Amino acid sequence: MQIDSGIEKSLQKFWNDYAEPYSLLHESCVYYQLMQQTLEFAQITPGIKCLDLACGPGNYACELVKNGAKVVGVDYSEKMIAIAQNRISQHTALNENISLIQMDVLDYLKTVPDNFFDVIIAALFLSYIPYPDEVIKEIYRILKPDGHFVMSNPRPNANFSHVFIDSIRDILRNPLIFIPVSLRIWIYAKRIERFSKNGVFHFFSQIETCQLLTSIGFDAGNIKFMETFSKQVYLVCAEKRKL
Ligand SMILES: C[S@@+](CC[C@H](N)C(=O)[O-])C[C@H]1O[C@@H](n2cnc3c(N)ncnc32)[C@H](O)[C@@H]1O
Repeated sequence: MQIDSGIEKSLQKFWNDYAEPYSLLHESCVYYQLMQQTLEFAQITPGIKCLDLACGPGNYACELVKNGAKVVGVDYSEKMIAIAQNRISQHTALNENISLIQMDVLDYLKTVPDNFFDVIIAALFLSYIPYPDEVIKEIYRILKPDGHFVMSNPRPNANFSHVFIDSIRDILRNPLIFIPVSLRIWIYAKRIERFSKNGVFHFFSQIETCQLLTSIGFDAGNIKFMETFSKQVYLVCAEKRKL
């Protein structure tokens, strides 16, 4: 798909710049809780093949391996992948069970055979790309029947200041480190809110999310929603119909 290469480059730069403070987000209880809720929705069992789409600094990939999954993590940001690689190379179990690929998500998805992954996770990602319907179509194709697709996206008019307020306890645990990091994360979060107001990013309502998922084959009856991340994010799980 043809996307304005200027916008694509500036978004890639945005994520590269955000990589370092973003990698410390897992210290926040609010983010950690979202991650655990995502794993519960995904129903991870030992040995399953799991795709972590837009894996960022590898927070989910590491947690998935701790729960017994074999993981492929894909992200186009060189800095995010470098941080993830650095983390996993320090632990044999992570190194043996996670493959990281630096690539555009849609380009990667097109290389995967039908019905391949047991679980696909797209955490805080789909709102940030200009072609979510194409990505969802590919996700459905490569997900095994009975498999789970779990995604999280900011709700319309999300205000990340609530997350900042709910993270104050974490910040006070180690103020010298976390006050500067949290301020940087807060500035990026505000930029994300602005990107959604001027149409670069799109925050889906529950109805839009359902339409997106059912239009490519998921049954409405097999879609679960949860409001989380200081009530600013919808966590969604869709199960692919059995053959
Ligand atoms: C908000 S971060 C989420 C990271 C991770 N899923 C998490 O929740 O910790 C969004 C990620 O999407 C990645 N990304 C955005 N557009 C992408 C694309 N077209 N292909 C691959 N990665 C992309 C960014 O590089 C960034 O790491």
